[in-house]
Amino acid sequence: MPSAFHVAGPGRWGAAGAYGEHGPSPSPPERNPVPHTPDPEPTTPPADWHPSIRVTAMPADANPYGDIFGGWLMSQMDLAAGSLASLRAKGRAATVAVDSMSFVRPVTVGAEVTVYTHLEHEGRTSMKVAVQAWARDRHSEAEELITCGLFTFVATDDNGRPRPLPQVG
Ligand SMILES: CC(C)(COP(=O)(O)OP(=O)(O)OC[C@H]1O[C@@H](n2cnc3c(N)ncnc32)[C@H](O)[C@@H]1OP(=O)(O)O)[C@@H](O)C(=O)NCCC(=O)NCCS
Repeated sequence: MPSAFHVAGPGRWGAAGAYGEHGPSPSPPERNPVPHTPDPEPTTPPADWHPSIRVTAMPADANPYGDIFGGWLMSQMDLAAGSLASLRAKGRAATVAVDSMSFVRPVTVGAEVTVYTHLEHEGRTSMKVAVQAWARDRHSEAEELITCGLFTFVATDDNGRPRPLPQVG
């Protein structure tokens, strides 16, 4: 059975992955200043990523102007990424960093938000999870990219200390 995890393979950013072959560029390209904003912007969700969370944005999640709070979206992304990280770690995993975060367009109340995740990189105890949130107006089928981010998690033991990732399989 193929593994549920696909590490550092071709992603939405081309064959070299999100950061290219030599790590993050010290001076990002002008048209794409945030590393985890796909360029060109995709028009459909990534087919091979995990749809980790689906939730309807409610009035309590909105700011006084009727748009959904960025913090609410970030928490959904953290939950989704944490779900994939815990699955890979076969146990507890803690968020240690949000390496990038990009809000592409606003979300309105009533939208159905789906958060997709992809394991980009594994270290000894850490995991980098790429996250994209897509929103669908509740009266239409079309989905739009709303946020992208890169979250780092560390597998932890029962005392909250880093724990080596178990072998896949
Ligand atoms: C996660 C935590 C246990 C890591 O402890 P630590 O002493 O920093 O661990 P280490 O220095 O041994 O690093 C462990 C791994 O995390 C990585 N790491 C640590 N800090 C990092 C950071 N800011 N960004 C990216 N990676 C980081 C290290 O590179 C290492 O990776 P590797 O084992 O794959 O090589 C500790 O920082 C912690 O408890 N943080 C709070 C977590 C939390 O409460 N999150 C919110 C709720 S889930």
